[in-house]
Amino acid sequence: MAPPSLKICCIGAGYVGGPTMAMIALKCPDVEVNVVDISKARIAAWNSDNLPIYEPGLSEVVEACRGRNLFFSTDVERLVADCDVVFVSVNTPTKTTGLGAGKAADLTYWESAARMIATVSKSDKIVVEKSTVPVKTAEAIEKVLSHNAKGIKFQILSNPEFLAEGTAIQDLAFPDRVLIGGRDTEGGQKAVNTLKSVYARWVPEDKIITTGLWSAELSKLAANAILAQRISSVNAISALCESTGADVSEVAFAIGKDTRIGPKFLQSSVGFGGSCFQKDILNLVYICECNGLSEVAHYWKQVVAINDYQKSRFAKRVISSMFNTVAGKKIAILGFAFKKDTGDTRETPAIDVCHGLLGDRAVLTIFDPQVPEEQIRRDLSMNKFEWDHPHQLHSHGGSVTSKIEYATDVYEACKGAHGICILTEWEMFRNLDYQRIYDNMQKPAFLFDGRNIVKVADMRKMGFIVYSIGKPLDPWVKDLQINI
Ligand code: UDX
Ligand code: ADP
Repeated sequence: MAPPSLKICCIGAGYVGGPTMAMIALKCPDVEVNVVDISKARIAAWNSDNLPIYEPGLSEVVEACRGRNLFFSTDVERLVADCDVVFVSVNTPTKTTGLGAGKAADLTYWESAARMIATVSKSDKIVVEKSTVPVKTAEAIEKVLSHNAKGIKFQILSNPEFLAEGTAIQDLAFPDRVLIGGRDTEGGQKAVNTLKSVYARWVPEDKIITTGLWSAELSKLAANAILAQRISSVNAISALCESTGADVSEVAFAIGKDTRIGPKFLQSSVGFGGSCFQKDILNLVYICECNGLSEVAHYWKQVVAINDYQKSRFAKRVISSMFNTVAGKKIAILGFAFKKDTGDTRETPAIDVCHGLLGDRAVLTIFDPQVPEEQIRRDLSMNKFEWDHPHQLHSHGGSVTSKIEYATDVYEACKGAHGICILTEWEMFRNLDYQRIYDNMQKPAFLFDGRNIVKVADMRKMGFIVYSIGKPLDPWVKDLQINI
């Protein structure tokens, strides 16, 4: 067999590194792709039939390439030393302590990866930033590398990832664009062209955008901030719809028809979640503050504030509708992942809603088709921002999690419940036998739809008291509301 035309090593076998490298391996059979991670368990899972992340279409891609030109390993240093291009796709959590706590990115993992690259490298390398990092990280990384380089040349590129979970394979196979930022020097441009030639195997040239390093880094933060801003905008309107009797879906449809606005990311919900949106906005806020731009920082902070408002508004609706108390009442939580088609629960709105209900002493039974019980218990016992510090996790005891039960069957979850909260838009929740569910619930039976997926009129006809985000309120709910 001919030797590989290029050797790639990706540090970090997570939601970004795993699928992205699998797609590169699929599309470039002549390129050797190694994915390395310090987590033995994660690498073992990538090498098994039970991949560590649930992503539609991923296992087919991995199966096609694993052992051919796609390898998963914990032999980090050897494989980094041996490659031409290193992608760095490690976690960049929000700092929990010290300067910038609660906003700034914690670059501990990134820095230690950079130091390791510098230590083990014996040949020139292209180092590609793949994880979302604050603007000008590349400059810092460049310094770490060049000061430890022993004569070896490193070219830094920023190649932000725009895939969304649940559609990662589709997004990688047919991206809207690929963005590559590099230095405007001969070496920088050569590196840009090397990476460009990898993507050009399957992405049309006009979709591969090249920019300066800073522009590429900032584009990632700005894209996520603007996407999240659309959701907070429509969620803000949803509160007004509920107060005035308009229907947020009708409003979103009408405004989305304006081609200048477009229909995407206007779906009102219980709030956005996921590993990127909140983290990236907080990062943007911190960068603005550091640059003395307090008005700009304040502007973006509001996107997160409205999201927090939407989550707490939902929990308050549930409590106030059920005679202002849920103490001792069974409430079924349908869906815990931050969106459908993923088992990921990072920053999922379900965590805040569950905390809100548990704070009023509800008894929760949680069902999600992809999220395992231990993960839910861990999420509900963690402090804010701890989720992205996997190597320093500590749980806060069983007091909260003793009030939750886990169901493996959706009908069991709802049996005997006073209320149901739909928190993830899984397709299966659209087609449940709601009559059967209603018949087995306490009466009055409440249905709180945080994703606007049930047909409200049909449910009301069945006997449910229904609350659906941004829709005209059920007369029952309306009468019982106290200042949401
Ligand atoms: C996001 C970006 O879309 C992606 O480009 C980036 O690389 C990473 O962050 P992801 O977090 O995986 O991707 O999912 P996304 O589809 O953007 O959804 C984020 C959250 O917004 C989810 O909780 C989703 O339910 C919510 N959402 C999305 C809405 O509430 N309404 C919408 O209209 C769209
Ligand atoms: P993302 O969603 O950005 O892909 P994840 O948290 O899913 O983030 O993945 C990041 C991965 O990076 C984790 O599996 C973690 O173990 C790994 N990682 C962090 N630091 C290092 C390091 N220095 N060397 C190798 N792997 C690392």
